[in-house]
Parts: sequence; C-alpha cells; structure tokens
Amino acid sequence: MASNGKRRVRDTDLYRSVFHPGDRFRRSEVYKSVVRHPPPDTPRGRAMTSFHNLFLHIYPVKVPREVVGWRATLRLGFISSVLFLILFISGTYLMFFYRPVVPQAYLDMHDLHADVAFGQFIRNIHRWSAHLMVLVVFLHMMRVFYSGAYRAPRQFNWVVGVGLLLLTLLLSFTGYLLPWDQLAFWAITVGTNIAGYVPLLGDNARQVLLGGPEVGGDALLRFYVLHIYVLPSLVVLLLSVHIWRVRKDGFAVADREDEAALDRSETSPREEVEDDARA
Ligand code: HEM
Repeated sequence: MASNGKRRVRDTDLYRSVFHPGDRFRRSEVYKSVVRHPPPDTPRGRAMTSFHNLFLHIYPVKVPREVVGWRATLRLGFISSVLFLILFISGTYLMFFYRPVVPQAYLDMHDLHADVAFGQFIRNIHRWSAHLMVLVVFLHMMRVFYSGAYRAPRQFNWVVGVGLLLLTLLLSFTGYLLPWDQLAFWAITVGTNIAGYVPLLGDNARQVLLGGPEVGGDALLRFYVLHIYVLPSLVVLLLSVHIWRVRKDGFAVADREDEAALDRSETSPREEVEDDARA
C-alpha cells in the first residue's frame, strides 16, 4: 500500500516537474525531432545512443575490458590528438593578432605580449603544446613499436602514422620562423641550407621552400600558409583515416587477449585429463 502511494506521488506532474524538470522537455516534439534514440539507461538504449550520435558513433558500442585500461595504449595517441586540438584553438586566437609580413611579424609578437588580453599566455600554451606534441607523438610511435601493434593488419595504419609524424615535425619547423626574431631567422637559415643538400634536387629544394634565394618576406609568407592552412588540413585528413583504421582494425591489445584465450583453451587441464584418459 505504502509503496503504491509513493508510486502515485512520483507519477504526478507536480513531483516530476520538481524532481525531473527535464522530463517535459524530453517528451516535447522539438526534443524528439533531434534526439531519436531511447534513453541510455538500458543496454539497448546505450547502443542506440552511440549509433545515432555523430561524435559517439566513431566508438565501438562494446569494447573488451582490457582495452579501456590506460596501460594498453598509455593514452599517448589520445593525448597527441588533444594536443593537436589545443594547438588548433590557441593558434586561431594568435592569428587574430599576427601579420606574416616583414618587419610587422616581429612587432606583432611584441604587441601580443604587451597589449593583447591573454596574449603571452596563449602564445606560451601554443609553444609548449607544440613541443609536447612532438615528444608525445614520438612516445606513441615507440609504444606502438614495442607492443608490436604495427604488425598485420595494422601495417597501413603504421604508414599513415609515419605521415602524421612527418607532418608534426613540419608544423614545428614552419612555426619556428613566424616570430621573425634572430633565433627564428638563423634556425630556418640553417634548416633550409640542409635541404639544399638533398640528393638530386639540391638547391632547388631550398629555393622551393624559401620562395627565393634566401630567408626573407617570401619565405615568411610561404611558411605561414604551410603552418596555418596546408599542414593542419593534411593532419586532419590523415588523423581521420588513422582513427578510422583503429576503429576498423580494433586495438592490438585485444588481439593478444584473443590469442591468450585460445592458448588457455588449447592447454586446459580438463582437456589434458581427457586426452590422458583416452590414451
Ligand atoms: C599526430 C600524430 C598521431 C596521433 C594524433 C595519433 C593518434 C592515435 C590514436 C588516438 C590511436 C588509438 C590508440 C592510442 O591512443 O594509442 C592511435 C593508434 C595507433 N597509431 Fe597513432 N597517432 C599519431 C601518430 C602515429 C605514429 C607516428 C605512428 C607510427 C609510425 C602511429 C601508429 C599507430 C598504430 C599502428 C595504432 C594502432 C595501435 C593499436 O592498435 O594498439 N600513430 N593513434
């Protein structure tokens, strides 16, 4: 009786409007036209939530437990992706206050520290995230190598990964010139001189990189376009393929668990006893 009474109180509109204020909105036509899956409070509801959401559907609906633990991947690929996102957002902020022309580029970087709200802070976030990304991508590659995750069927994703590593290094290199200070100027002079020693291409490679015979305004503009548009677009493209392949191939650690389960079943003591009995 008492529980019946409690249920009746919980079913009233007054109770629901106080303790579940979102319910009315969830029953509205507007909500139902956007969210078309059942509430995620049953296994089916959770699966449907994942299928029907643009951002969630890249994840598998079910994953083996060992894949979720941080030790499987050390989360290094994930951290690389987050760093790329931070670089994208902080870089967009910096673009509002920077002009890639000589000598304005240098003066703009100065003004960024003195006159722009959070200018120095965002610049440092961008710089440190860039250094960290190079380190973390490298560590991610080592993790993949030492856990043997590059083996079939993931060879293609390894090659895509090498592309991502090269793009990360190129982003770092092109970004170095943009402050247009002495350090930037001479670092890029040395870097592009090395490109002049590329077999067969020789000085042509250097000329293409710099847009002229030496580091100057043309090189600055070239590096800027590469840094803010060409290379990030290529990273987004390759990263989409990379993560899509991880989704399709599954995590390498899950393969090992499958093999271990197979091994365990092949050498189960029960089978050995049965084999002995049959012999
Ligand atoms: C911008 C750089 C990169 C990003 C953002 C990135 C992102 C990711 C993410 C999110 C994963 C899922 C598992 C995890 O977190 O470890 C992954 C897996 C993988 N990555 Fe990368 N990655 C990058 C560079 C590389 C490089 C340089 C290589 C190798 C040359 C590589 C090879 C692989 C392989 C083979 C897998 C599958 C590993 C497995 O199944 O255990 N990735 N990557």
